[in-house]
Amino acid sequence: MIIFDQTHNTFTLNTKNTSYQMKVTEFGHLLHLYYGEKITDRDVSYLIPNVIRSHESNPSEVGANRVYSLCAYPQEFSSNDAGDYRISSIEVVNTDGSYAFVGKYRSHKIYKGKYRLSTLPTLFAADNEDVETLEIELQDEVTGVSVTLYYGVFAEKDVITRAVKLTNGDKGELRLQKIMSASVDFMTDDFDILHFFGHHYYERRPERQHLNHGVFEIGSTRGSSGHFHNPFAVLCAPEATETNGDAYGFLLMYSGNFELSAEVDGYSQTRVALGINHKQFEFKLAVGESFEAPEAVLTYSKDGFSTLSHNFHNIFRNNACDSKFVNSERPVILNSWEPFRFTFDEEKLLKTAELGKRLGADLFVLDDGWFGQGDFARDHEKAGLGDWTEDPKKLPNGLKGLADKLHAMGLKFGLWFEPEMVNERSNLYKAHPDWCLKVPDRAPSRSRHQLCLDLSRPDVCEYLISAINAVLDQGIIDYVKWDYNRYVCDVYSTYYPQDRQGEIYHRYILGLYRILDGIVKTHPDILFEGCSGGGGRFDGAMLCYHPQIWCSDNTDAQSRLTVQYGTSFAYPVSTMGAHVSACPNKKTKRVFSWETRAAVAMHGTFGYELDPAKMTDEELDACFKQTEIYRKNQRLIFGGDYYRLSAPNDGDIFSAWEFVSKDKSNALVFAVTEDISILDKNYYVHIKGLDPDRNYKVNGDLTLSGKALDKIGLLIPHTVPPFSTFVFELTAE
Ligand code: DGJ
Repeated sequence: MIIFDQTHNTFTLNTKNTSYQMKVTEFGHLLHLYYGEKITDRDVSYLIPNVIRSHESNPSEVGANRVYSLCAYPQEFSSNDAGDYRISSIEVVNTDGSYAFVGKYRSHKIYKGKYRLSTLPTLFAADNEDVETLEIELQDEVTGVSVTLYYGVFAEKDVITRAVKLTNGDKGELRLQKIMSASVDFMTDDFDILHFFGHHYYERRPERQHLNHGVFEIGSTRGSSGHFHNPFAVLCAPEATETNGDAYGFLLMYSGNFELSAEVDGYSQTRVALGINHKQFEFKLAVGESFEAPEAVLTYSKDGFSTLSHNFHNIFRNNACDSKFVNSERPVILNSWEPFRFTFDEEKLLKTAELGKRLGADLFVLDDGWFGQGDFARDHEKAGLGDWTEDPKKLPNGLKGLADKLHAMGLKFGLWFEPEMVNERSNLYKAHPDWCLKVPDRAPSRSRHQLCLDLSRPDVCEYLISAINAVLDQGIIDYVKWDYNRYVCDVYSTYYPQDRQGEIYHRYILGLYRILDGIVKTHPDILFEGCSGGGGRFDGAMLCYHPQIWCSDNTDAQSRLTVQYGTSFAYPVSTMGAHVSACPNKKTKRVFSWETRAAVAMHGTFGYELDPAKMTDEELDACFKQTEIYRKNQRLIFGGDYYRLSAPNDGDIFSAWEFVSKDKSNALVFAVTEDISILDKNYYVHIKGLDPDRNYKVNGDLTLSGKALDKIGLLIPHTVPPFSTFVFELTAE
């Protein structure tokens, strides 16, 4: 899997279908040679042109050699202030005030199993899975500062992970100002970049553009990975499609500020780099101290986006979260937020839950509004956050009284928290006003009337762990929705001296992982769902804690088609929270049939977010049947290979997607039309991933070969109302 070739001084990392190659030069620089389709060659350094790039600098140790330039050569971890002017992997200020860092090869280790980081979540090797690690240590010969580059090779899954640990030398204090988790160089240009942008209510919409000369960059400086850009992008050939062409996926396992950039330089070479955003980032390291940069997950597919997504889906379904819920059946949820917001009492909740059973729900979630008392009662957005005890006015019999009654009905009980936040109108704020992020002498900005707790403080983290665990340890909660509803600003912590304020953004995220470890990992029987004003923190690191994440606050079926389509490029359907809500939709005012709303919500962890008391008996019965369809197919939906069968952004006037069992014996296809009339051309949905030589029964009726279903496809009927839904069940004979 990992080959060190002593003759050529190369490292080759092989997965089933890909290779990644690096080379140590005679001067100790680590070059990146190749990433792509599997090769058997042990040294492809011939690809570096033997030309003088005049005006480029040549390191002094190369003597009169004018070809050897760090800016013309492909780098694995680019040096700083040493003649590579492209996006840097590292920026430091040394004790003597210099900025130089030149990492040269010192040693390496290859071992079975997957490295882990001690401060950050990472992917792990599943039981009996063949995974290998390569560690390469680079060191600056003058300062003694070293970086360990980690590579995790998941051979069967065609995934390579990378991470970096920097360790200060013995010369004195070091100021780390930038460190990228991964950087990959290509000797050519002509790439597109596909990335996922959005905002609250409309996350992860795909956008594809050609990379021209210069720097393309996405990122977040909002303290969380955020609604605006996802820490994930695909570099691909301009002709790449779902089924053809080179596609490289780059994903950062980090929930805070990130940057992902791609540069095409003047020689038309391309570099992609991703890591913690270096805005307002400066970490001070004393002699011998270390800093870990988060893990990056890389995959390559020569067959376009479907295979790329399968690689990410397989790894997130098996190697991110060790919760027992990841690969088990998930409950159908009925959530109180959209129907009731803050206005409810025990009687109303129980009546809703009773009807929820008729609807087919397994679990009732009491969302925001259950906590705080008196003046601080959570009857609106302005009070209560931080006071995690029930409001006796709404819950006279306490959480336990409600939970017992729900359990007696045969329903599970879920509860909402927003642990990282506080309202000024709360007992927590009264007792600890200094526990918020706030710049001295400035009034902090509020967002949704709330302030961010300072999770960089260990005392705040320990308090939160004990306050939330006090509720969970009653043993009456089966599910937790972990919400986070603002972005961070006023980033200053009175806990740290003024010269360490550049550490706070990152220390906040370390604190967040600390409290997630202390709450999530100590409650293995509770299903956790992540959330951040919908999908504002939908990232790989969060998936190490939460088997599922609420995808978006937008529950409009048409919008969700786009949000879920975009999300599916990196994240499996089993991680996407998706609910049927009432129509007209609260936000968009649009109306869709129950069938269409259900079909769209089956592209995720299915549930309802409506008041069943407002439904007719027929509607309740119809929904109950939908939950049965979902339950029957949940294994296929969560465990099968997922295919996008349409490209809504490229003018397709239907959305279609498909789940195929790993043994290709059955498949489930959903298609939602926009507006197809008799005046339109014929539209066929081409079914992917089937065995071309087997015959499949379509909805128990027509029999077609896998080949015909792919090459000819199934006709989408004309003249149906806009947003009609078609479901095709395919069973191999
Ligand atoms: C934002 C979430 O995305 C919603 O589902 C809901 O939980 C609200 N917060 C509650 O404040």
